[in-house]
Amino acid sequence: MVENVLQVFQNKVTLHNTKRFVSDKEINNLAERYGTPLYLIDEKTLHNKLLELHNAYKGFQGDVKIAYSVKANFNPSILKTFMKDGITFDLTSLGELYFIKQLKGNPENIVYTSVTEELEEYIEVLKNGIKRIVVSSYYGFINLSKAANIINIRPKIMVRINPEVGVKAEVRASYRNGKFGVPLNGGKIDSAYLIVKSIYNSSLLDFEGFHFHLGSQITNFACYVNALERLNSLINKLKKEINNFSINTLDIGGGTPVFYNDPVPTPAEMASIYIGKLNNLASCHGNFTLMIESGRFLVAESSIMVSKVVNTKEYNDHKIVILDTGYHLLLDAALLKQEYPQEVILCHNDIYEMNSNDKRKHSTVKNIHLVGRLCDTLDVFPISKVSDMSDTNVGNYILFYNIGAYSLVFNMPFHCQTKPPVLMKTIDDNFKLIRKGTSHEELFIEEGGLLS
Ligand SMILES: Cc1ncc(COP(=O)(O)O)c(C=O)c1O
Repeated sequence: MVENVLQVFQNKVTLHNTKRFVSDKEINNLAERYGTPLYLIDEKTLHNKLLELHNAYKGFQGDVKIAYSVKANFNPSILKTFMKDGITFDLTSLGELYFIKQLKGNPENIVYTSVTEELEEYIEVLKNGIKRIVVSSYYGFINLSKAANIINIRPKIMVRINPEVGVKAEVRASYRNGKFGVPLNGGKIDSAYLIVKSIYNSSLLDFEGFHFHLGSQITNFACYVNALERLNSLINKLKKEINNFSINTLDIGGGTPVFYNDPVPTPAEMASIYIGKLNNLASCHGNFTLMIESGRFLVAESSIMVSKVVNTKEYNDHKIVILDTGYHLLLDAALLKQEYPQEVILCHNDIYEMNSNDKRKHSTVKNIHLVGRLCDTLDVFPISKVSDMSDTNVGNYILFYNIGAYSLVFNMPFHCQTKPPVLMKTIDDNFKLIRKGTSHEELFIEEGGLLS
């Protein structure tokens, strides 16, 4: 069944799976005004992606909530955009909570999942009115119980299970003896079974449901089917031992894939693989709210990075195209060898005509290497197979598509590099500066340069 459905997704590779929301002329104007590298984000795409993800689960018999995983991109303008749609926020740190608080987000629309699960952290979380908290360890559960006692609040606890299923994905979060969640029955103390029983034994705590997160950029969905089957067995076991056992929320984490280099299934195609299993769970064990977390899918396609070719060199049928950007702005190009789709755009400024006599211009070398500005071997951008870089010259703009997730948040000052400005194309088609670029002066101060 899963294999059959996957075959349907083949043969769809084109660059404009990625929709361009800016014209060549706009890119030239914005690059002239703000310089490059430059990030551009499209507000309409953010709203559309949320709608698309929500609609994918319309076959589910209960309520469906989408939670934006703030780790993917915590830019306040993106958070505000999603807030307008009443989204839930998936938070993992007090820093992320601070951002949502500053934007006057509703604590009811938060699910908080910590990795460290410290007592002080849980006290702070509860003080801020957050009820839905995901615990991932027995000590975490104890700390949350203590915090609830101190603040005198009844949190709604979800238990993060590690279903220990095989995941075929770029980033795997579920594997045997892994870092995240607790095994269903595994440890003598750290087991979902024991934590749920402890919650039911406590007069201070409410059990809300289960959470799992299998990985990111998942394209084979058998892992969801397997995880739900394992969860079903655990629920059956718990129902035998706990009279009033029920689930209010089931959160199946993130993983919805994005087009980079190879075609990927749509969220609706993805959901179709396991929606039957979810409905079975709801029918057998009582209706629950289904929570879908997403970082990558909700923001990736909303954003483009504009960079410029600043130098080239050629030897032995190879052409090295040097950009004014680097992996300090697009870390996953180095870390995951992510093939962000690229496109070459002509610069309308005549200044580059001074290179018109350059013999390398329009040369037909076979092997193009797109490299960054950092003095680091890893700073090479894998060229996407949907991109044509064969005629790339000094002064051209290079667009990197679908870079909205896990890129801005990793901006690094390696080599004393500054952060580029970020512009948002708003619903009414205006370009608005939503993050200023930083300067060398600011970096010097931030690094303690003025401390005596
Ligand atoms: C718990 C959890 N939920 C959701 C996500 C988001 O995953 P994705 O960006 O693939 O949607 C992550 C990513 O690391 C995560 O750790």
